[in-house]
Amino acid sequence: MKIGIIGAGNIGGNLTRRLASLGHEVSVANSRGPETLAELAEETGATAVTASEAARDAQVVVVTIPLKAVPALPAGFLDAAAEGVVVIDTGNYYPQRDGRIAAIEDGLPESRWTETQIGHPVVKAFNGTYAQDIVTRGLPGGTAGRQALPVAGDDAAAKAAVRDLIDELGFDTVDAGGLDTSWRQQPGTPVYGNQGDAAAVEKALAAASPERTAEWRA
Ligand SMILES: NC(=O)c1ccc[n+]([C@@H]2O[C@H](COP(=O)([O-])OP(=O)(O)OC[C@H]3O[C@@H](n4cnc5c(N)ncnc54)[C@H](OP(=O)(O)O)[C@@H]3O)[C@@H](O)[C@H]2O)c1
Repeated sequence: MKIGIIGAGNIGGNLTRRLASLGHEVSVANSRGPETLAELAEETGATAVTASEAARDAQVVVVTIPLKAVPALPAGFLDAAAEGVVVIDTGNYYPQRDGRIAAIEDGLPESRWTETQIGHPVVKAFNGTYAQDIVTRGLPGGTAGRQALPVAGDDAAAKAAVRDLIDELGFDTVDAGGLDTSWRQQPGTPVYGNQGDAAAVEKALAAASPERTAEWRA
């Protein structure tokens, strides 16, 4: 599959490593330009590109940058993507890093905000997963205790595609519903950073409260 990854940090770098090693055709971008990604490209076989180019012909695009950088993504960066492109949002709102985002402080789910900024539906995944776990904790399907990731999104087909990809990466998934209730997997919730199996993730999602705790407010 052709996959574009925008953001080459902790999460984007490790997704590049794993997805490329699974045989996917990965293009990866950061903010400083492809020449700064030569080492990652050499290590993984991924193609280093600009953020404007990352989505070209891609069936899946991963947006994995700090929220504060989302409004600055190049206009039309998804225009040349494959028809029906699935966009994964790994982002979290960290007011200390991202500054105050009023709509999120007022209760808009973080991924709904991102979706509005980029003008394309997103599937929320990986946001509560430790970056290192992506390379160290994957297990074959059917393994008892296999770590599960919550996946939220409004488009059933897009969500199914993301769940299949996560399975390939070595993790179970739990359908966490649509984006309106994706606050259940935001920072500060029981599932955030949870390394449990599907049953544990389901339980944690059910125990979440929509109240944003002081630690996660500006
Ligand atoms: N770290 C984790 O374990 C973890 C876990 C789950 C979710 N998350 C969330 O996932 C997102 C990414 O986290 P991270 O830890 O991977 O971040 P990170 O290590 O700080 O890396 C951020 C990446 O985004 C790139 N970037 C910033 N602005 C950009 C732009 N305008 N265009 C293209 N690329 C841009 C940066 O490029 P430059 O270096 O060139 O500026 C860098 O490669 C965040 O929202 C974070 O909260 C993180």
